[in-house]
Amino acid sequence: MSKLLEIEDLTLEFSERGEVTNRPLRGVTLEIAEGEILGVVGETGCGKSLTGLATLGLLPTGATPGGRILIDGEEQKLGAPSKLRGNAISIVFQNPGTAFNPLFTLGRQMEDVLARHKGLSRKQRTQRRQHILGYLEQVGLPDPERVYDSYAHELSGGMLQRAMIAMALVCEPRLLILDEPTTALDVTVAKQILDLVLSLRDRFGFGVMLITHNLGVVREVCDRVAVLYAGRVIETGSTAQVLSRPAHPYTRGLLNALPARHRQGEQLEAITGQVPARLVDVEGCVFAARCPIAVERCLTTDPRPVHVPGQSSEGAEHVAACIRVAELEVAR
Ligand SMILES: Nc1ncnc2c1ncn2[C@@H]1O[C@H](COP(=O)(O)OP(=O)(O)O)[C@@H](O)[C@H]1O
Ligand code: SF4
Ligand SMILES: [Mg+2]
Repeated sequence: MSKLLEIEDLTLEFSERGEVTNRPLRGVTLEIAEGEILGVVGETGCGKSLTGLATLGLLPTGATPGGRILIDGEEQKLGAPSKLRGNAISIVFQNPGTAFNPLFTLGRQMEDVLARHKGLSRKQRTQRRQHILGYLEQVGLPDPERVYDSYAHELSGGMLQRAMIAMALVCEPRLLILDEPTTALDVTVAKQILDLVLSLRDRFGFGVMLITHNLGVVREVCDRVAVLYAGRVIETGSTAQVLSRPAHPYTRGLLNALPARHRQGEQLEAITGQVPARLVDVEGCVFAARCPIAVERCLTTDPRPVHVPGQSSEGAEHVAACIRVAELEVAR
């Protein structure tokens, strides 16, 4: 499979009066192949959304980027709208309620996106309407005509998220970024949206960056996963590799906190401590303060990604950035 997106050592830095105040991305490296769903997972504040936005070419004001983003093998200008040969990159956000303008019908807003993307003029209205109705149907909305003429407040959260995905599809994306697409939805509706993402990927063949704080979501739909902690990918591999043989203590902690692995009524073993609110000069392993197996060396050694020994699945590389990976594997 050819590489659609490659992010190499992406950094992001905020400064005030010439002094660095935060480095929320400290070298994110990941890739997505055509037709592949990559889960980008980590707790709130790990840098997931910034990674997604940077991929689109959107950076918060005052942010200085570094590293490389390649799309179709072509290097992108960081902070400028990303160019994908032929088609676009689309993003879907967590809260569909705020993604639409409350003053216009959904159809009208989707028409605007289509006009911008396809250059269809006002006169080609019927054509545009048909095109959009087609996408509303593709995302499984029961009455596309009615949805087209609705305002955001008239639809449920699940229907709005479907409409939001339809709006993303209008651009015929080859890369779809979904930022916590199911976090605002209840469990049953969330499951339906994930099934929809899977079936659309199979139908349209686009690559997907699925951003989530929930490893359960990853398990449902992702081919591969990149675990992000404090602005770095600390473990990556196929979903099977990472979920069945997690190598990094952070990934193990996230997995232990998953309800499905616990008997009813049992206390969840969340990871103690918090994601650092600000990162400036980090020495040693940034996870050391929370790591249950940290040793002296962790405070001074910057853990670089190493291969996790063990069977490889579907040729995917299983890599983790922890200096104790080899010992832990021996101890298994
Ligand atoms: N506009 C901004 N200015 C300064 N810092 C920011 C800004 N946006 C995000 N950050 C910092 O980047 C960190 C990661 O943010 P984000 O990518 O939104 O995390 P996530 O999506 O994983 O929850 C935040 O904790 C915050 O410290
Ligand atoms: S390098 Fe040390 S502190 Fe960091 S995750 Fe590994 S064992 Fe824990
Ligand atoms: Mg986020």
